[in-house]
Amino acid sequence: MILLQSVCLLLLVGPCIPQFVFPLRRSKEKFRIPVELNVTTSKAEGVALDGLSLASDPAGQVNFFTMVNNLEGDASNGYYIEMSIGSPAQMLNILVDTGSSNFAVAGAPNPDITNYYNSKLSTTYQSSGIKVSVQYTQGSWVGELGKDIITIPKGPTKPMTINIAIILESEDFFLPEVAWQGILGLAYKVLAKPDSSVEPFFDSLVNQTGIPNIFSLQMCGAETTSSISTDPLGGSLIMGGIEPTLYTGAVWYTPIKEQWYYQVEVLKLEVGDQNLNLDCREYNTDKAIVDSGTTLLRLPGNVFNAVVDTIIRTSLISQFPAGFWTGDKLACWEKQSMPWDYFPKISIYLRDMNVSQSFRISILPQLYIQVVTEIQPSLTCYRFGISPSASGMVIGATVMEGFYVIFDRAQERVGFAVSTCPGNGGTPQSEIAGPFVTSDVSGNCATVPMLREPLLWFISYALMGVCAFILLILIIVLLVPCHKCCRGSDGVNDKSSLIQNRFK
Ligand SMILES: *[C@@H]1O[C@H](CO)[C@@H](O)[C@H](O)[C@H]1NC(C)=O
Ligand SMILES: *[C@@H]1O[C@H](CO)[C@@H](O)[C@H](O)[C@H]1NC(C)=O
Ligand SMILES: *[C@@H]1O[C@H](CO)[C@@H](O)[C@H](O)[C@H]1NC(C)=O
Repeated sequence: MILLQSVCLLLLVGPCIPQFVFPLRRSKEKFRIPVELNVTTSKAEGVALDGLSLASDPAGQVNFFTMVNNLEGDASNGYYIEMSIGSPAQMLNILVDTGSSNFAVAGAPNPDITNYYNSKLSTTYQSSGIKVSVQYTQGSWVGELGKDIITIPKGPTKPMTINIAIILESEDFFLPEVAWQGILGLAYKVLAKPDSSVEPFFDSLVNQTGIPNIFSLQMCGAETTSSISTDPLGGSLIMGGIEPTLYTGAVWYTPIKEQWYYQVEVLKLEVGDQNLNLDCREYNTDKAIVDSGTTLLRLPGNVFNAVVDTIIRTSLISQFPAGFWTGDKLACWEKQSMPWDYFPKISIYLRDMNVSQSFRISILPQLYIQVVTEIQPSLTCYRFGISPSASGMVIGATVMEGFYVIFDRAQERVGFAVSTCPGNGGTPQSEIAGPFVTSDVSGNCATVPMLREPLLWFISYALMGVCAFILLILIIVLLVPCHKCCRGSDGVNDKSSLIQNRFK
């Protein structure tokens, strides 16, 4: 589900140009430090499960070391991996998107991209002649389905035959500032277009190379300690397992509620130490997903408003213009006064594998008050990394950059561990704590889509039929007295007869 919030776009749009400078007063009274909860870590380690490690890969054919740092890019423009497509090989950069399920590459020239895959030059390309189109939260394309041989230089070593959609026309999909020419949809086949018979990339990869059915993502964003970075740190897509050097502490797992997007169940949100106290179903309306192809943390409207209100209420920053929270304006601070000390951390509580427990993933303000640009040598400008959403909660790159995220498809769970990205002076920008009891929330906060429930569709159609039947009876009942009266008074039409009948 790609939704990239390009920094350049933000700056080009008129109202986005930094219009205010807001040096913070260092008054201590109103500034609150979030209270840390004491957690029994020994218990946490006992509960958290260790995933697959290099040593336990039975086939021994996966070398995770070659996959470390195989991604480039950043949250705004997306993280991408280099792939070689066709014979002879054509090299393309491919966006990593856990929120969609098609593998698609540019197949025709486009003013916004530097190169594309020319299927006519590949002797191994097999066209299916089937047209396909995909619509994302942002952008769409139309193309043709086919197959070709693919290798990932910094991935599993074997070549694979993969379903490819060749993009022939697109709208708002490729952007001038992005360095990728295709998209790797890593979600489940239910979301594949035109239908789920198009086996997604990762399914084919597992089938053809024999690697375990699991991948993990470390996205490192840009260096933030020295304000703006010219060299993004990139990240790693580990295919087939978990690389222990990419995280620290325990891995906490939450069940995948339904296999379409990576849908998880959010139980609670906290801003600093303030529980938002909304009905937990609000956090999951209509779904809560983990999506590397979305830049920001996106929250359902009510939840978004509650988060902003709580940030304003509990901190010094109450005098902020509304435009900052809506993403229309940047906030700029003098360089020596980083704003992060004035914002609270934000915590998302997820259901543990043990359903009567939860754990929380917290992001520090460094992740959601994001450096965008410098307007003068002495001023750094930031944007708000959280936005409202009409399509449920999206745990996008803003959050994922704090964690090593494990998509354990084999065991139907998503794991989170504190990421060890280089940069940031080596200080993690995230925290994980647990376990917490879930007695204060509903036993089920998530709505699950009717994906494989044709029976439910049948029932709803049947109910609609019953309604129509009852309606018909009602109409007949209403018309019968009228009929009688019509017969009694020749020549008077139906309309007036009803009135006559009533007033007699
Ligand atoms: C947390 O632990 C520290 C030291 O063990 C203790 O002083 C403090 O009161 C505890 N805080 C809470 C909220 O329990
Ligand atoms: C692997 O691919 C073959 C051929 O497409 C298919 O029949 C088989 O079911 C697949 N196996 C798995 C484990 O997906
Ligand atoms: C699940 O969590 C509950 C509450 O913490 C605990 O009492 C129970 O023993 C746990 N169950 C398992 C199987 O670990």
